[in-house]
Amino acid sequence: MRSRRIRIKNALQASRATTGMCVCGWARTVRRGKEVTFIALNDGSCLANLQVVLTPEMEGFESASRCGTGAALHVEGDLVVSPAAGQSWELHARKIKILGDTDSDYPLQKKRHSFEFLRSIAHLRPRANTFSAVFRMRSALYFAIHRFFRERGFLYVHTPIITANDCEGAGEVFRVTTLSPEQPPLAEGDVDWRQDFFGERTGLTVSGQLQGEMFATAFSDIYTFGPTFRAENSNTSRHAAEFWMIEPEMAFADLADDCALAEDFLRYLVRFVLEECAEDLTFFHQRIESGLIDKLEKLAGADFSVMSYSEAVERLQNASTAFEFPVAWGEDLQSEHERYLTEQVVGGPLFVTDYPADIKAFYMRNNDDGRTVAAMDLLVPRVGEIIGGSQREERFEVLEGKMRKTGIEPQNLRWYLDTRRWGSCPHAGFGLGFERLLMYVTGMENIRDVIPFPRTPGNARF
Ligand code: 4AD
Ligand code: MG
Repeated sequence: MRSRRIRIKNALQASRATTGMCVCGWARTVRRGKEVTFIALNDGSCLANLQVVLTPEMEGFESASRCGTGAALHVEGDLVVSPAAGQSWELHARKIKILGDTDSDYPLQKKRHSFEFLRSIAHLRPRANTFSAVFRMRSALYFAIHRFFRERGFLYVHTPIITANDCEGAGEVFRVTTLSPEQPPLAEGDVDWRQDFFGERTGLTVSGQLQGEMFATAFSDIYTFGPTFRAENSNTSRHAAEFWMIEPEMAFADLADDCALAEDFLRYLVRFVLEECAEDLTFFHQRIESGLIDKLEKLAGADFSVMSYSEAVERLQNASTAFEFPVAWGEDLQSEHERYLTEQVVGGPLFVTDYPADIKAFYMRNNDDGRTVAAMDLLVPRVGEIIGGSQREERFEVLEGKMRKTGIEPQNLRWYLDTRRWGSCPHAGFGLGFERLLMYVTGMENIRDVIPFPRTPGNARF
């Protein structure tokens, strides 16, 4: 069966009629008639279905016509020009085998289902059009990301998933332990982590950056791309407990180089989907976000705006909009502020740079003004922050001081400090949230709907 089967995408792109073709897939709809039955067959290779036409003289007409929506079918027949509008080809079946039938309880019936409902059947939702398009796009973009860095000579490094450091220092680490949760060994009234599997407290990584920096200070330009975990209890449409992050790191680079790479990167990925994912993109444009393709085409051509944090705060303070959260220099920007800046003030992607040192991670390079750091966030309409990055503090004493100030014991990150002792150099990098990127290019509004099996507070099923 496998050797002769051709994908529906290829069948639909055929240049001529073909006799004796074999396809497999799942029935999206079955329209039964006395004289003829139509089955819309989909195998996930593209959005479009292949219309399979069944007539009484074929083998198994009766039983095949009774198959349910969602049934898995093996069809042999002839590909012929379709008289129906909107499709060039259809398959006149000669032989049909029902590999796996369904019944009337099959949850994906013809009507449109809400994304919330589909999330509750995450094992079946890839068979729905929207999710089929989302996950094809996700897979395509994954390859485009590797291609981008490979074309530019970046080394791909796999940073660890289990780690003893909390890179962002936000205390959102999922603990990894083999100690008994009921009766952990104690030392002076506290859990004795020295007796744990790794001999110290470990957790799931919140970022591969620190290890990425080690490789950048040997290979010059590197990137890491892997699963990332954050136990932040924020039940928003933009946060997941498990997400994927792309983190490039460049030696001999400053914040301007960092922004330039981020801009090239995003533009490259947007051009890629415009060129390579046209069918799925058109679907999102028509059904999910009107004007999506125009938005992406505009981004592919235009320069991104840049604004310092201080200027952003001033703009927000002078805005006529009433914000839920107050705006003050020294406070972090809330999502409503970010969206106002990117949607109302510039109407496109915006780099906000040079944030107050006190609200950013310890590794960011101190600016000469003594109160800001060489940080950047890239904000885009609808999504808000899509990238966070910075130039790193490469001066040993300054970095050690920043650690102490943020409550990190320098001894625990000796290995990290070592790169600042031996051959330290200016370097910079950023993190792009893969799901936020997908939200941006598909128009999907909830992060749960661009991850195959979302993990969020209270939800790790499937
Ligand atoms: O801004 P963040 O926290 O930066 C870092 O982790 C740096 N270490 C990156 C670096 O410089 N190498 O996260 C980077 C990006 C965010 O801009 C966002 O797109 C995404 O990761 N992100 C999340 N995506 C989904 N769910 C979450 N809980 C996320 N937290 C961050
Ligand atoms: Mg950030």
